[in-house]
Amino acid sequence: MLNGKKILIGVTGSIAAYKSLLLVRLLIKAGAEVKVIMTASAKDFITPLSLATLSKNQVLTDLFEEGSWANHVMLGRWADLMIIAPLSCNTMAKMANGICDNLLLAVYLSANCPIVLAPAMDEDMWKHPSTKINIETLQSFGNKIIPVEKGELASGLYGDGRMAEPETILNCINEMFCKKELEGKKALVTAGPTYEPIDPVRFIGNHSSGKMGVAIAAELAARGAGVCLVLGPSSIKPDIPGVVIKHVTTSKEMFEACLEKSPSSDIIVMSAAVADYAPVSVSREKIKKTEGSLIIELAKTDDILKTLGDKKTKGQLLVGFALENHNEREYALKKLNDKNADMIVLNSMNDEGAGFGYDTNKVTIFEKNGNEISYERKPKQQVAEDIVDRIIKMLYA
Ligand code: CTP
Repeated sequence: MLNGKKILIGVTGSIAAYKSLLLVRLLIKAGAEVKVIMTASAKDFITPLSLATLSKNQVLTDLFEEGSWANHVMLGRWADLMIIAPLSCNTMAKMANGICDNLLLAVYLSANCPIVLAPAMDEDMWKHPSTKINIETLQSFGNKIIPVEKGELASGLYGDGRMAEPETILNCINEMFCKKELEGKKALVTAGPTYEPIDPVRFIGNHSSGKMGVAIAAELAARGAGVCLVLGPSSIKPDIPGVVIKHVTTSKEMFEACLEKSPSSDIIVMSAAVADYAPVSVSREKIKKTEGSLIIELAKTDDILKTLGDKKTKGQLLVGFALENHNEREYALKKLNDKNADMIVLNSMNDEGAGFGYDTNKVTIFEKNGNEISYERKPKQQVAEDIVDRIIKMLYA
């Protein structure tokens, strides 16, 4: 299945390094060509000789070896896919911050192929806020994270942090190479909030983080689509292969960007939390406080989803989102109909760990053909996979 695929494996210092031996074996058996890079501390756990023997290639560790320079740019370009397994806490932190003090990090920074990461660490380290931030940063770079598993840890404790089993990693790699169902398709995705200015220092905004939309854009690109992501003001700074980003601030800018891109898009996913109202006029000067109350007149913004629903062309697939806290099903079905959408993804504010700001989401998908599918609470990356699976099903039905 992986015949002729060039796979670069990075191994870092973790007790789980022994599993990389099995991973190399599985990849070679599946027909892949494998090269391995180790960090210095990985050599404390397994030997380069074992990895060289199994991969049938010299194992590289240093930028300079035996007087010659390891060409990290060419290694990055050689690979169809790079996987770092196990990914230690230390290397993860360096990658999230662009640090480049060994060959593995230099290759990571130069690689322009899809990157898969299989973290491994003790549960307390896994749950530390800095790890969470680093994982989020790496995901925003478009790196695919294979979730850690629960089980016995090197510390003797039981919990989250075990590296995924080599078979799980192989399945993930297989899927990444197979799932190119959207090759040749173009997708338009909106994400994040919009800010509607009141004066030069104030605006009306909302708490949307943009994480769900960014995950959907990444997943569509991973399945082969060319993606334009229209992103409102968000702290996430995605850099995802196959995704062109158009940064906007206001709902008007988002509307205009979408109007421009929609005619050439096969798939349109509107996951942004667009302001429904904006100030009628924007004060050029900062509004000073006065004795009485302040009344700001608001006018309805353009409903982008509805506009694109009205303009929808044959073969175009339009997905909207609904965030509700009561009569969820009824409102979601109403949106499906009113906005001429093909699919509405509902998140209920009553579900724990769903909606704005969370790393997880719990959604129900309503399709225009009457299908209604409820999913468990999952990381947003996996929710994006579910949504894209449904999009593909509907597109090729
Ligand atoms: N949307 C949009 N343009 C707007 C407002 C919303 O494209 N001006 C899209 C969102 O991206 C999302 C969906 O419409 O896909 C949300 O529907 P909406 O009717 O705006 O929901 P609410 O903002 O919750 O408003 P309400 O339920 O009060 O109608």
